Amino acid sequence: MRIPVIAGNWKMYKTPSEAIILAEGIVKALSSLDGPELVVCPPFTALAAVGQVVAGSRIGLGAQDLHWAREGAYTGEVSADMLQDIGCRYAIIGHSERRQYFGETDEGVNKKSRAALAGDLTPIVCVGETLTEREAGRADAVVEIQLKGALSGLAPEQVQRLIFAYEPVWAIGTGKTATPSQAEEMHAHIRKTIAMLVDAETACGVRILYGGSVKPENATELLERSEIDGALIGGASLQVDSFAAIAKAAQNTGFRV
Ligand code: PGA
Repeated sequence: MRIPVIAGNWKMYKTPSEAIILAEGIVKALSSLDGPELVVCPPFTALAAVGQVVAGSRIGLGAQDLHWAREGAYTGEVSADMLQDIGCRYAIIGHSERRQYFGETDEGVNKKSRAALAGDLTPIVCVGETLTEREAGRADAVVEIQLKGALSGLAPEQVQRLIFAYEPVWAIGTGKTATPSQAEEMHAHIRKTIAMLVDAETACGVRILYGGSVKPENATELLERSEIDGALIGGASLQVDSFAAIAKAAQNTGFRV
């Protein structure tokens, strides 16, 4: 059974004091919701404070990135052990903004996924094509290359612990969402690719989230597609009401067997 995941990526928004207020609102709004796994990913500086707010609630804490080494002379970086120690249980890896602005590569995604797993964090591995790639008919191939790089050398038991997020770059922060059919087609392609690279059982069990302008208005039509196991939400995760409405939509659309 695939339990849906609703994860908020707060990006570079919210000071620690603002983050505490948002997290308190989310805990209050969603503490009694059953069903989906809920995660918030504040910026590094707010992780410890938000960790205290969500401790003991059903809201999990995630980071937006991490470094692949356990420790070392890597100025400005943060390791899996450091994140684990302040209560993080998830880490977003390979977000398109990191690929686009900070030179994240598929090899880096692979190394970071291994580090996250070794530190007992659940990686949320992001893949997705740009508009140019989609228009050139290369979306499937691009995502396949990203998956091949991300999963290189991982054992099936390791891949089973990953969460995937399909985020078409052209839909992130643009207000343009992939249609439910476009998203579902790509999710099916991702699952097929994982079956080919790993095995069918692993592919069938992993959660694949959709990300890119998910809002309360389009959440239900996306989440009710059987290939879509949840959402990674940017803009709409910065307000209690919209994040809570999407989480409730996930509860109503049910689990995948
Ligand atoms: P968006 O961001 O919901 O603001 O489009 C999604 C993401 O980048 O994870």
